[in-house]
Amino acid sequence: MFEGLPRKKLAHLPTPLHRLPNLADTLGIDELWIKRDDLTGRSIGGNKTRKLEFVIGDALAQGADTIVTVGGVQSNHCRQTAAAAAIVGMRCILLLAGEEPEISTGNLLLDKLYGAEIKYFPDANVLDMNLHLEGIMETLRDFGLTPYAIPVGAALPVGTIGYAQAMFELKQQIEETGFSPDKIFVAAGTGGTLAGMVLGAHVAGVDAEIIGVSVLSPAETLVERTRDLVQRTVDSYPQLFEKFDPTITVDDSFVGKGYGFVSDGVKSAIEMFAKMDAVLLDPIYTAKAGLALMRMALAGDIERSANVLFWHTGGSPEIFTHAGEFFM
Ligand SMILES: Cc1ncc(COP(=O)(O)O)c(C=O)c1O
Repeated sequence: MFEGLPRKKLAHLPTPLHRLPNLADTLGIDELWIKRDDLTGRSIGGNKTRKLEFVIGDALAQGADTIVTVGGVQSNHCRQTAAAAAIVGMRCILLLAGEEPEISTGNLLLDKLYGAEIKYFPDANVLDMNLHLEGIMETLRDFGLTPYAIPVGAALPVGTIGYAQAMFELKQQIEETGFSPDKIFVAAGTGGTLAGMVLGAHVAGVDAEIIGVSVLSPAETLVERTRDLVQRTVDSYPQLFEKFDPTITVDDSFVGKGYGFVSDGVKSAIEMFAKMDAVLLDPIYTAKAGLALMRMALAGDIERSANVLFWHTGGSPEIFTHAGEFFM
């Protein structure tokens, strides 16, 4: 369906889909499976690599020589973008909200290894970082460069296509394995991944309830942002999609004290997934989605006979920056 669009192969696809046997037993769900987008590869993996296949494809088609994007200091998106830019030989400029740390660890260390140039914005908030993109684009053009701007989380129509495509991949795996999810749990930040999944499920015919577990925003805000992105994507690709009214489900009960705060619940989800089935979650995104799944199962809100899919979106480099919070 997406063959006509510019695309740069970056990810190792299809990512594995497999059972989590030990966690399934503990939570009392017979069929609990995981989609391993933490294994998209090329720079430790994660959800952004799927989006970047189409975004970088678009940048190359437009003749760009420089990629500019934004995020937090430990942004997984920025790390995957820096890696993608290195692969295609483009310059990469990262605008990061937060102070420059004394020691670069986790994603920031990898950004530097991939050769990204970094500018810090100590007082900025991650979701406001898009505002800083326009100014720098003008400066780069003045220097004779051809820059391509990627907003926070690559949450734009061309990035959304990456997750619409992922649902066709899932559909194929459903046919191969016979496992057809009733419920899918996925972490949601900008809502870009969720938007692509909702759109892709609609066109690929995957009939599952997709639950976006918010890591930051109130449910209402995230539902609206996701709906807007679905609609903008449909409008941007009229040759591929017809207008429809998407159902968007967001659970914001696991935002906790905020984006970077690692609660005891988040730690327990990380420890459970690791100890039970050797799956590594990150504290900011995937552990909140994991915690949502665990709490719902233990509260009896998921029937034993339900087919449940945990969609892993990556983020593992960040766990090492929280080493001091475990086993102390
Ligand atoms: C590991 C991980 N999971 C989930 C997300 C959320 O993705 P989205 O911004 O598309 O909602 C991110 C975003 O950076 C992420 O790094």
